[in-house]
Amino acid sequence: MKKTVLVSGGAGFIGSHVTVELIEAGYDVVVADNFSNCDRTCYEGVKKITGREDLPLEVMDFCDLAAVKALFAKYPIDAVIHFAAYKAVGESVAEPLKYYKNNLTSFLNVLEVAQEKGGCNVLFSSSATVYGEPDVVPVTENTPRKPATSPYGNTKTMCEDILRDTVKASDGKIKGILLRYFNPIGAHPSALIGELPRGVPNNLVPFITQTAIGKRECLSIFGNDYPTPDGTCLRDYIDIVDLAKAHVFAVTRMMEGKMKQGCETFNVGTGRPVSVLELVNAFEKVNGVKLNYKFAPRRAGDVTAIWADPTLANTEMGWKATRTVEETLKAAWAWEKHLAGK
Ligand code: WQD
Repeated sequence: MKKTVLVSGGAGFIGSHVTVELIEAGYDVVVADNFSNCDRTCYEGVKKITGREDLPLEVMDFCDLAAVKALFAKYPIDAVIHFAAYKAVGESVAEPLKYYKNNLTSFLNVLEVAQEKGGCNVLFSSSATVYGEPDVVPVTENTPRKPATSPYGNTKTMCEDILRDTVKASDGKIKGILLRYFNPIGAHPSALIGELPRGVPNNLVPFITQTAIGKRECLSIFGNDYPTPDGTCLRDYIDIVDLAKAHVFAVTRMMEGKMKQGCETFNVGTGRPVSVLELVNAFEKVNGVKLNYKFAPRRAGDVTAIWADPTLANTEMGWKATRTVEETLKAAWAWEKHLAGK
């Protein structure tokens, strides 16, 4: 009997890639999204990649409790992967209430209904941002979390705690996995789905590809005076397909009862630190393009260096990132060219 996974925010960048991998792994998937932060491009792309023209789509807001209840009544949901949240760090500083209201209410509604229906497997999309500026790198799952540097980051920390406490009180009926992503980048090799930020991209790679295609004038590298080998920040850039596959491993772990505790946490990263300048140089080299960039002042809130120790995910889940940053940047460029109709 096929298992059904609800992917909230499933029309977005990460949600759409996870949906592809779940379908290809044999799961039934229900995509639910309110399209507040994306259009239908990726949802349509998922259907093309998987051939599932009948992929269920529920257009809804997870802040609407009645809608969440109706969703769980309509489908035999065995697991939920919760992506539905706002994620722009800078915007969250300017509009904290919007972020707390949306990101917390949507997750609370999912958990409330999961509890009402007698339990569920819940996978929460967390972030390395909960580590703040780590004292020691690489970070393991036991590295202490630090006070978030933005309301966005704080909602991730709070949702982690909400899930942990709900699992603890659920008498085993609710199981939880927290996946802490580092820096997801790239696009599906088909170039039919990828990152599609609205307006000016906050994140590095979409800004790079939009500069390369001519949509942006010049990439600003925020700071080259950091205490790092080349002066620019270090991050753990993980290919979006590798990241998506980690969700299949996690959901399967829950479904097959392989968990060792009610709520588990995994770092989803490559374990490989890459600097901004290294990424820019790799993009130019692998795609044969010259990027127009300049060094600019540091961006407030940026941490100098953070990358994962992914040992736990590698050994416990059997998942490992396999794609090189060059492969990922090739796919990111192919996606940008697809968007430009090239
Ligand atoms: C990476 C590096 C910038 C843009 C954030 C969130 C995290 C996750 C991913 C949200 C930094 C530099 C960037 C630019 C630049 N989730 N940069 N010029 O800040 O590591 O992580 O996004 O989606 O939770 O915190 O990612 O891509 O914004 O920045 O120099 O135009 O690139 O300074 O060093 P970040 P990022």
